Amino acid sequence: MAAEQRKIGITDTSLRDAHQSLLATRMRLTEMLPILEIMDQVGYHSLEVWGGATFDACMRFLDEDPWDRLRQLRKNLKNTKLQMLLRGQNLVGYRHYPDDVLAEFIKKAVANGIDIIRIFDALNDLRNMEKAIYCTKAEGAHAQGTISYTISPFHNIDYFIRVSRDLKDLGADSICIKDMAGLISPFDAFELVGKLKEQVGLPVQLHCHYTSGMASMAYLKAAEAGVDVIDTANAALAMGASQPATDSMVAAFQGTIYDTGLDLELLSKVSAHFQEISCGYEIPREVMGVDTNVLNYQIPGGMISNLASQLAEQNATHLFKDVLAEVPRVRADLGYPPLVTPSSQIVGSQSVANVLTGERYKLVSTEIKNYLRGQYGKPPGEVSPDLLKQVLKDEKPITGRPADQLKPQLAEARKDIEEYIEQDEDILYYLIFPNVAVDFFKRRKGILPPLKLNSSCSGGKAVNKVANKEGGQNGPLLEALYAVDENLILGDDINKVYPAG
Ligand code: CO
Repeated sequence: MAAEQRKIGITDTSLRDAHQSLLATRMRLTEMLPILEIMDQVGYHSLEVWGGATFDACMRFLDEDPWDRLRQLRKNLKNTKLQMLLRGQNLVGYRHYPDDVLAEFIKKAVANGIDIIRIFDALNDLRNMEKAIYCTKAEGAHAQGTISYTISPFHNIDYFIRVSRDLKDLGADSICIKDMAGLISPFDAFELVGKLKEQVGLPVQLHCHYTSGMASMAYLKAAEAGVDVIDTANAALAMGASQPATDSMVAAFQGTIYDTGLDLELLSKVSAHFQEISCGYEIPREVMGVDTNVLNYQIPGGMISNLASQLAEQNATHLFKDVLAEVPRVRADLGYPPLVTPSSQIVGSQSVANVLTGERYKLVSTEIKNYLRGQYGKPPGEVSPDLLKQVLKDEKPITGRPADQLKPQLAEARKDIEEYIEQDEDILYYLIFPNVAVDFFKRRKGILPPLKLNSSCSGGKAVNKVANKEGGQNGPLLEALYAVDENLILGDDINKVYPAG
């Protein structure tokens, strides 16, 4: 008798995470459209196309309407499930939004074409995911509950099983292990996937970044342990800070019980297209190659180069190693949060501040204060009592669900921007990125001139240039997204784009 087939599904991230990780989220819809017909024939489990930083980058840097992008992708990908990444109660932003905004956002995401929503929270705090899971189900979409993977004295297999069981109880249709910094070893992946399959009983999907160089080995062992779906990117936008290559994983499983059934020739056409696109970008060296030091500092791939660039701007390159060494200490002080948006930015910027000022927590960002107040949720471990005392004085952290403190905002926002509204979705732009959205609306109405795509658009300083040479000398010289921004350190604006996840 033939061995039982255990076909592995492939979620290709080329249209979201891969270019977020390698091209600073700058890929445009016009660069995607020509290959969609072929991608739609491949037979992927799903295509990750939206969420994360794409929402912000579309408006802020590319003068594109992210909702329109989604509608066009949907129109051109009739046979393939479309997937998005959602930061739980943070949606695609950097702070919590009230439940009315969350419900409307999910309703519109599904109505415009999303089939699967991957829902995570940086602290694995279920209270920040429950409403999103509920709304996703209510809209008839697939709710993927996510565990943000990290390594710490408080995170072990039992912890992840417990969180996954709770996610199942909340209604999750599947579980994603989200290894945003590429930390999971092949043998840990084997054990975790095996136990999740055995003890939770939902389909399991593994999402790794290639940063430490272990991701494709982790996928292989995860396959042996029964993983259902793995996340990969076309060969031209794979590895480094991105995912393992779709082509390689498909080839590795060919002719085995894990055979994905995907056609390498079609995949090769997909990769060739993105090869051509990526030649127009200057990919920063820091996001390519592998670095096992990430196992210690755990910063998601894309953020390392930002730290380096930011320090270079301050003529403080010699402090880079000190900042990297400070990151695990700040993370420990905060009770070992997994580092993913927004905790990665919060920890990263505080580490820079601690090193640059020469005194730990002399300068404390608003985000750190809010974190200590419990406004991002419950930290996984114990927060440093000294730090709590220094920052909060006698104030007591909240213990309830953070979003319960927030009043509904939709109705008021609609009034605020009445003059600009062309679609209901505009209110959501405005609520999530108020300044970026109003500028975008003004450009759309012709009140402001269109964005010059070859110039710095964020108002921040240019770092890690990702240059799109397409279009000759007028082609856009793109400013990388992922600086730990000085505004963030000063704590007055967290509305910046950082690829972390
Ligand atoms: Co990712």
